[in-house]
Amino acid sequence: MADAEQTHETIDAMSWESRRFPPPVEFARHALVADTSMYDEAAEDDEGFWARQAADLVTWATPWTTICNWDLPYATWFVGGQLNVAYNCLDRHVEAGLGHRVAFHWEGEPGDRRTITYADLLDEVQRFANVLRGLGVQRGDRVNIYLPMVPEAAVAMLACARIGAAHSVVFGGFSSHSLADRINDAEAKVLVTADGGYRRGEVFPLKPAADEALTSTPSIEHVVVVRRGGNEVTMVDGRDHWYHDLIAAADPVCPAEPMDSEQLLYLLYTSGTTGKPKGIMHTSGGYLVQAAFTHKFVFDLHPETDVYWCTADVGWVTGHSYIVYGPLANGATSVMYEGVPNFPGNDRFWSIIEQYGVTKFYTAPTAIRTFMKWGDAEPAKHDLSSLKVLGSVGEPINPEAWMWYHEHIGGGRCPVVDTWWQTETGAMMISPLPGATTTKPGSATFPLPGISAELVDDHGQPIRHGGGYLTLTRPWPSMMRGIWGDPDRYLRTYWSQYPGRYFAGDGAKLDDDGYLWLLGRVDDVMNVSGHRISTTEVESSLVAHPAVAEAAVVGANDATTGQAIIAYVILRSGATVDEQALRTHVGQDIGNIAKPKTIYFTPDLPKTRSGKIMRRLLRDVAEGRNLGDTTTLADSSVVAELQRRAGEAPSED
Ligand code: WT7
Repeated sequence: MADAEQTHETIDAMSWESRRFPPPVEFARHALVADTSMYDEAAEDDEGFWARQAADLVTWATPWTTICNWDLPYATWFVGGQLNVAYNCLDRHVEAGLGHRVAFHWEGEPGDRRTITYADLLDEVQRFANVLRGLGVQRGDRVNIYLPMVPEAAVAMLACARIGAAHSVVFGGFSSHSLADRINDAEAKVLVTADGGYRRGEVFPLKPAADEALTSTPSIEHVVVVRRGGNEVTMVDGRDHWYHDLIAAADPVCPAEPMDSEQLLYLLYTSGTTGKPKGIMHTSGGYLVQAAFTHKFVFDLHPETDVYWCTADVGWVTGHSYIVYGPLANGATSVMYEGVPNFPGNDRFWSIIEQYGVTKFYTAPTAIRTFMKWGDAEPAKHDLSSLKVLGSVGEPINPEAWMWYHEHIGGGRCPVVDTWWQTETGAMMISPLPGATTTKPGSATFPLPGISAELVDDHGQPIRHGGGYLTLTRPWPSMMRGIWGDPDRYLRTYWSQYPGRYFAGDGAKLDDDGYLWLLGRVDDVMNVSGHRISTTEVESSLVAHPAVAEAAVVGANDATTGQAIIAYVILRSGATVDEQALRTHVGQDIGNIAKPKTIYFTPDLPKTRSGKIMRRLLRDVAEGRNLGDTTTLADSSVVAELQRRAGEAPSED
């Protein structure tokens, strides 16, 4: 372990990974990028690089006059340029003769299917754009979208983009209360929702939740309801309309008008750990350029032959950038799936991959660790040989989860791209390029071409080795343009810790080869006898034990050591191991200081709806505190069970 004083490390880096995976020769032969020239080009002149991407990947109605205006902390990109985002995602492909190409292979959870071509999607988007206009939506207005994973979600987003209204998508799993807050903050005029959607074999009601929200959302003038669940709903005369009625009556032609490059494209609310949700603002030109660029090169997209599947929900930024805008701008064919991975069986995802011949697959570490828990036999039931690239996003991916993904899903032949980014960054920032980058399991590797990242210590001084705070040093095209209605908070939250740098709260470490390893949120770093240990490294060590599928680690107050490491562990199906053996394993793997004081075995962990472990709650449980707000939990019964176990488990003495 390095001496923290000498190297100015602010997080002690505890473990180093030696496995390496160069791009397979056969893969690199057909890859869009197979060497470092793109990095060199971008390093020489990042703005010039982005300008070339903007010209290659996006069709502009009016060329820009300035590539980037940077007035810290505000950037504008492709200034003076005009484009229509929906035109870029739809019309230009149809004009190029690709109207017959499938945009979405949609699969409902019950097994029903729809095949939607680019021509189909363009037709429906034009109609719905006219519907929105008919309901009084104008350029600059906000439209709220609260839908299950149905194609109409993409239609509604693109229809907004077409007429210059900003959408604000609220994940369908959020409560009526969260929906009302977000509608009111955005002062949305129209709400697009559904009667209900399918989840784990049942219909979950959405319109009734929307109705509850609508009792306190004075800005909403009209509600459009997609029929999906078939559940009974109440429609308010004059305010509520069935989507299919409006579409059937709509004018089929709605020309795409050019919008300013900096036209607001959408708001997306992040809850963060404290305070009221922030409406992250994304605009049009720069956002589309970086979404398209990263989708194309990180997945090595060959749109004529690829079938791409991102398993996120459209309610998250991953769904915005990598189900809707990036893939459609690139003319890709995607799978869109409505439901959960374990309906009707634990192999649903693998059956979908086999069915549609998915080539590029993008999912989250939380899902991968769940698949590990369910066992190797599930993917083994299916032919996954169509797969070519595997992506990961949302959390640090533990090296063993990476290895499992690589072997059991990728058959040992597919590059794994671990992509670091945030709602605020709009698009991927740190990731391998699969034909060019030698990967290491658990590392997001390097900033993408055109992106500048640096680790700093507590004083904002750059760190060349070991652990520190991840900052971004240059503006990038898809960066957030602010927080809706709260410019001060934007400056305070992201630009005030380290002068001149963007900091959004993640720790990371650099190894000898300059690879970046994300260490999780700095709020989660534990202080054990003066050692600053990242939860990620201890979790990864636990997951490296063959009996362990998933682990969550927190620092709980401790009279002797300041904080003590408490671990919650989920075992792989059928596996057993005792607490002492696991503690010894961590001690041998990364050092005695990192040995958990107490380990609880649990069937489940508290997670947010987007799958991130809620360490704050686990800390509360470990410190015996009353729990605060648990409404954002995916499954609130998990915490009660953990509290019960905490009450009876023996502690190390
Ligand atoms: C936070 C952003 C980016 C879309 C989904 C989440 C964590 C994200 C990684 C990764 C390690 C990651 C970070 C980041 N995160 N990707 N590849 N490795 N951590 O978007 O909800 O805005 O969350 O997710 O902590 O700050 P988000």
